[in-house]
Amino acid sequence: MSKISTIHECVKCGAQFSKWQGRCTECQSWGTIPQVAEISETLKKDIQISPDQPINFDQINLQEKERIKIGIAEVDRVLGGGLVAGSLVLLGGDPGIGKSTLALQIAQGIGDTLYISGEESAHQIKMRADRLKSNLSGLKFISQTSIEKIIATILDQKPKLVIIDSIQTINSSDSSNGVGSATQITACTSQLMELSKKSGIPIIIIGHVTKEGFVAGPKTLEHLVDTVLYLENDSRDFYKILRGVKNRFGSTGEIGIFEMTEIGLKEVINPTNIFIEEHSSPSSGTTISIIMEGSRAFLVEIQALASKTSFGYPQRRSTGFDLNRLQMIIAVISKTAKVNLTNHDIYLNVAGGLKIKETATDLAVCLAIVSAYLEKPISQNILILGEVGLSGEIRTVAQIDRRIKEASKLKFNKIITAKNQNIRNVANTEIIQVANIGEAIRTIS
Ligand code: TYD
Ligand code: MG
Repeated sequence: MSKISTIHECVKCGAQFSKWQGRCTECQSWGTIPQVAEISETLKKDIQISPDQPINFDQINLQEKERIKIGIAEVDRVLGGGLVAGSLVLLGGDPGIGKSTLALQIAQGIGDTLYISGEESAHQIKMRADRLKSNLSGLKFISQTSIEKIIATILDQKPKLVIIDSIQTINSSDSSNGVGSATQITACTSQLMELSKKSGIPIIIIGHVTKEGFVAGPKTLEHLVDTVLYLENDSRDFYKILRGVKNRFGSTGEIGIFEMTEIGLKEVINPTNIFIEEHSSPSSGTTISIIMEGSRAFLVEIQALASKTSFGYPQRRSTGFDLNRLQMIIAVISKTAKVNLTNHDIYLNVAGGLKIKETATDLAVCLAIVSAYLEKPISQNILILGEVGLSGEIRTVAQIDRRIKEASKLKFNKIITAKNQNIRNVANTEIIQVANIGEAIRTIS
């Protein structure tokens, strides 16, 4: 017989201790370790383990993993072509961002859906649905927080899709911890994962992300589920961006863009230039480049500010662009282009709240800094594309044709890019190809 023992678990962070204590030494919270919880019965017994029977890969029927199209193109694309049968999807985001609205619109797209809410009453959901002018046929609702009841209802109803709003309100009688604690959320999610895999019913669970990076929040769940989608605001709060951060059945590069209207979330059909603003006159320190997010191209506006350092070391700050890369670019400019930035604070910002993950905008960053330093504006009709190397050379960027194709829908009359870049002629556009930073700076000064 194995030894029977008791564990003491913190409801906030899930840390376990062999002795009770008033304060959790992991998360430093007081009074979060409640009464004794016995470890599960199975561990107390000697277990007879029977071996599992593996199956051959050629016996696996791939038809089972069929995709169900939702009919909202932006969501289908972020999911990699639709919802996969038997998958568990986490839809995360700040409170009030529009998760319940999006979930209801997805339900409407699929039809036969069971909507389970632990937060809102049937009346409230109906009011939202009326606002969305939804076709409600096939949509069923229960207000429930017990995971055991939820699972029983799903198995009884066998809907095409299940939506759980939100995972933080669901609890399991197996776990003695408080509702919304890390252990409760993890336990409920694991049970839902098992259910979706066995029944083939896709389940979307909604999770709130709190400002202080709540431990029991969706972050802990990312490992457990198949797909993680986040809904977030762009930095000007004009648009909602749906971003795939994990996807077992597709790429994670794709983003979907929506606008919140009085009748729910509306897709933004042609989003290439939504992150840049038209300026009446060009201002110094601003350049335009183009980035790829999955299969789509977006124009980005890079803004730089250079001001004389008044005290101590020069500051380097960056929003939306990697700080180490910014420091490297500043060092390369100072060394190879004879623009001395050692006594200047440099601030860099990518307008619109995008985060740049590729190197194709290096040259645009570099010219934005030089333009700010020289106080020399660069026209908004110039598109800048190129990677900067350590010796100041300008390197080529990937998928140039895709980028230029998108950009050519807008009015650019000049493109500055790398000397070695293979680039097709674009009507009414001058293409300037430069070998290094020095040459690039000469084209703007
Ligand atoms: P909601 O989906 O409830 O957010 P979450 O579930 O993420 O907490 O909706 C968020 C906001 O959207 C709410 O403040 C009201 C607004 N809204 C609209 O502007 N138009 C609409 O059609 C709906 C349904 C909501
Ligand atoms: Mg909600």
